[in-house]
Amino acid sequence: EKQGYKHFMLKEIFEQPARIIDTLRGRVSVERGEVNLPELALDEDAVKAIDKIVFVACGTSFFAAQVGRYMIEQHARIPVEVELASEFRYRDPIVSANTVVIGVSQSGETADTLAALREARALGARTLCVCNVIESTIARESDGVLYTHAGPEIGVASTKAFTTQLAAMGMLAICLGRLRGTLATEDARKLIEALREVPAEMEVMLRDMTPYEAIARQFSKAHSFLYLGRGNQFPIAAEGALKLKEISYIHAEGYAAGEMKHGPIALIDKQLPVVVLCPKNRVYEKTASNLEEVRARGGRIIAIGNEGDERLDQFADVVIRLPEAAEFVQPLISVVAVQLIAYHIADFKGTDVDQPRNLAKSVTVE
Ligand code: M6R
Repeated sequence: EKQGYKHFMLKEIFEQPARIIDTLRGRVSVERGEVNLPELALDEDAVKAIDKIVFVACGTSFFAAQVGRYMIEQHARIPVEVELASEFRYRDPIVSANTVVIGVSQSGETADTLAALREARALGARTLCVCNVIESTIARESDGVLYTHAGPEIGVASTKAFTTQLAAMGMLAICLGRLRGTLATEDARKLIEALREVPAEMEVMLRDMTPYEAIARQFSKAHSFLYLGRGNQFPIAAEGALKLKEISYIHAEGYAAGEMKHGPIALIDKQLPVVVLCPKNRVYEKTASNLEEVRARGGRIIAIGNEGDERLDQFADVVIRLPEAAEFVQPLISVVAVQLIAYHIADFKGTDVDQPRNLAKSVTVE
């Protein structure tokens, strides 16, 4: 059932545009500027009363929640915390009856996330989840479920589950912003339109594999990679590093680009590939200056930026071009690039892409 693809992971990467469409279907209306998520039973009074949202999650789902934080804080102006599920319950978390705790879990069976949600509920919070598996334990135990429609994900390294989680985060942010009164109809329309354009933009990303093949040839022998991103690209840097570790067994770190000068800059030499996520957005100039700093120290650069950005060619060894997209949805596009970098390096090395050593698809022990 790999449908001609060499691995399930590759098939699942290519399926992303269709699964995003499935996830948005029936929930968004550009004309009305509305997102309807009746499954969450959120009404205006309940949303206005929310004092904070706490996301609990593990692994890739944790990074989806971090992107969700940017979206919700910006458009619904609700304070958001993102906590590793395995840490949440051991630190006497502060939640109230007006706190909404949202578990993010593809499988709905991750033990740490389940335990964190049980703890939140015991403390009196309302619990919701973003989940891909109908009737999974986390889905059954939550007060409301926002299902992603990624379909079954076979590859242990999560891809389409992640991007559909991001689509769900986008819808949630718009829905909360409208109910809270912080997002005007016209602005909601633009954000919905941006979400609807993602599948076509992803298709553009999936057309050309040559930069990834070049990266695999040039960099598969590296012992370590550094991924840098700022703003909503920071979680994508972390996700890119996780993907590379999982399937190619190369050490990688995802860092906030602004933190580079506070430590990791000491690592930079000719051996260290640095992946810089720098699409045109409000922090572009700052991130582009990181590129120059890495270059000045002899680092090797893989730049992921927009079509037509010639500055990147000046500094980078390889440039991956992203189609233009609204800042709100840029993480959904740029993550495809880091997925493909990891995939092509792992495939070049010949590791077991779909079943990496020591990993299980869902981690049901705490
Ligand atoms: O099923 P979940 O979303 O709760 O799983 C969480 C993590 O175990 C999962 O994302 C893991 O990090 C993946 N292997 C990442 O590719």
